[in-house]
This record gives sequence, structure tokens and C-alpha cells, in this order.
Amino acid sequence: MGHPVLRKPARPVADPTAPEVRRLVEDMFETMVNAEGTGLAAPQVHVPLSVVLFYVAREGEEEESAPREAELAEGEHAFLVPPTVLINPRWEALGEETEMGVEGCLSVPGLIGEVPRFRRIRYRGLTPEGREIAREAEGFHARVVQHECDHLEGILYPQRMTDLSSLVFTEEVGARFSEEEALRRY
Ligand code: NI
Repeated sequence: MGHPVLRKPARPVADPTAPEVRRLVEDMFETMVNAEGTGLAAPQVHVPLSVVLFYVAREGEEEESAPREAELAEGEHAFLVPPTVLINPRWEALGEETEMGVEGCLSVPGLIGEVPRFRRIRYRGLTPEGREIAREAEGFHARVVQHECDHLEGILYPQRMTDLSSLVFTEEVGARFSEEEALRRY
């Protein structure tokens, strides 16, 4: 938090299939796994391009299902949402309903806070193969996409908070939030 690239809107990627985009995605994936994150946006590795990636583990399997390169080819049973790369993503809310949830961000270490997000969204984007992904999402899946796409607009989750009294140090997590919720970083 505070690095200029995290404040700037990201640039669209002209050619999603370019080798440098593939290298960026590999680098981001490694960074996400090493940091035990569940999502990452390119500005978080100081690259101002419109690229995000994320996955959603099945509930209660966070530990076992942290993705490794080999597992990507193995199958997708460990994931509620398999590791997904979105280049030039767009999303829109489905309905007005919002819900509060705890968020942690790899760019805001040591803190978590409650953030309102749309409960259901539709999103689309391109893969590094140039294929289009279009999905509907709800709950945490919808939340992680909104969080990552915010990074592409130069917005960090504290800016979305409506009650800063829920911004707490991770050491204090037990007092207010479940550990599973509070351990997610993206
Ligand atoms: Ni983040």
C-alpha cells in the first residue's frame, strides 16, 4: 500500500497471447502461491497491466488445495473455482444485493477488514490463449473478482469499507472473525 502503481488504473493488454503476457502470468502465479494468496492482480507485482488471477478452494480445504503447478494439469476437483487468469476483465452486478465479508490483501499486509461487495456478478475476460471466459459468480467467488478488478482501477479494499472499526490487525482475528475467512489474501 502506497506504491504508485497500486493507485493507477491498469492498461489494457493489446495481445493476450504475447509471450511477455505468459511470462507475467507465470510470475504472478508463483507470487500468489508463495504468498499463500487466493488471487493477485498485475499491479500488485508492479506491472500496470489489466491482468488478474485467482482460484477458490473448496471450503475447509484451504491447506490441502493451495494450487501447485503440477495440480493444474491434474484436474479441478480440489477447487470450487479452478485457477483462472483473466486478461482485460469486465464485470457487472447481477441485482442490487450486497453482502459484507472479510477481506485481506497481499498489498495491505497485517490487516483485514469488512467490505461490502455485490453478492452476484457476471464477469468476462480473456485467457492467455486468447479464449474468452464468461461466468456468473456469487459469494466469495464474486468477491475475489471484484477485489482483483478494483486493483486494476487503483482501488484497495480499505477504500471500499463503510465501517473502519472493522479494520483490524490479523493478530486480533479471533475476536471478531473466523480464522478461515481471515486467512484469505488476494
Ligand atoms: Ni488485494
